[in-house]
Amino acid sequence: MSALFPTYKRFDLSAKQASGTVVEDTEGNTYLDFGSGIGVCNLGHRHPDVQQALENQLNHYWHVSNLYHNPIQEEVADSLVQHSAGEHVFFCNSGTEANEAAIKLARKATGKHKIISFEQSFHGRTLGSMAATGQEKIHSGFGPMLETFSYVPFNDSNAVKKAVDSDTAAVMLELIQGEGGINIADLDFVRELAHICQESDVLLIVDEVQTGIGRTGKPFAYQHYGITPDIITSAKGLANGIPVGAMIAKQTLRDVLGPGSHAATFGGNPLAMAAAQAVLKHVSQDEFLQEVTEKGMYLLATLNESVGQLPVVSSVRGTGLMLGIECSQDVTPVIELLLDKGLLVLSAGPNVIRLLPPLTVSKKEMDAAVQLIREVLTDEKAYIS
Ligand SMILES: Cc1ncc(COP(=O)(O)O)c(C=O)c1O
Repeated sequence: MSALFPTYKRFDLSAKQASGTVVEDTEGNTYLDFGSGIGVCNLGHRHPDVQQALENQLNHYWHVSNLYHNPIQEEVADSLVQHSAGEHVFFCNSGTEANEAAIKLARKATGKHKIISFEQSFHGRTLGSMAATGQEKIHSGFGPMLETFSYVPFNDSNAVKKAVDSDTAAVMLELIQGEGGINIADLDFVRELAHICQESDVLLIVDEVQTGIGRTGKPFAYQHYGITPDIITSAKGLANGIPVGAMIAKQTLRDVLGPGSHAATFGGNPLAMAAAQAVLKHVSQDEFLQEVTEKGMYLLATLNESVGQLPVVSSVRGTGLMLGIECSQDVTPVIELLLDKGLLVLSAGPNVIRLLPPLTVSKKEMDAAVQLIREVLTDEKAYIS
């Protein structure tokens, strides 16, 4: 019996090696990775620039703590600030921690305690970020949740308007709900939400843990909407596989988190920073982002053409290289059959096949993936009778 807690239902694959879009298992089988380690290895596995940056940093220093200056943290923070609406950055180690920091910042800055988030949202697993998550199955067994978190229907600005009161500190939003089903926020809704927040003195936190770092063809997904969030959270793709999290906030919030108010021993670790620096060099280039947009449009169109009309498929949707194929049934058997055929994909909720290929994916790889998805979706073994 494994000595690990059984917290994950694991598919039958033990990785041995990975490079670019390809993962090889211990038995020599190869797979096209259209999950990127759940939206993490955005530049593909072991991208040479990231590897080089890590090797360089390994030869300098690995950790001296946040008691001392750390120039590489400053550089990564500058780069994040340059490509977002924020002006100050706090580094941590995961998406959950970035959201936890955002919740604490919002409460301390406003002196208010209520946080509104959305049904089907996912913000993490710590007590605060779990309470912000609008899914009962994530709360199950861990209750009661922290008080003062509430959930309103996604894309419903009237519901937000009704829920906001004088104790509301912040609204927390994913522009595309990743775990919840690749649900895309409407433009009008987001603009109205930003307006409500501004009028009510409520901070707008956008959770870009999955949507950020080029995934949707912009550095951050909120940049498709013409809004200015107060706080942005990032993680996953930021260091291409090295654990990292970041909370980016506007200038007026800077002094809320003074010395002693918040910290993370490993936050901004030099190895994670070296990797992030290499990632941001790519993701900040307009040509790179343009290619992500074009690839995303190609993949969406090819999927629509190839599987969009199948009776089991109810919708194909997405932005950039964050796509979902919604089916009329549980997609677990589909995912297992795709794995057998050499394609790694994710689910989003029970009925959606989620595709998060590396942003460096080639047209040939996308064509091969679409072909396999079609094969499986037209295979009767994929259906639960
Ligand atoms: C939108 C969003 N927020 C937060 C998290 C939590 O991030 P982590 O698992 O790095 O703590 C995730 C993870 O899937 C996520 O997709």
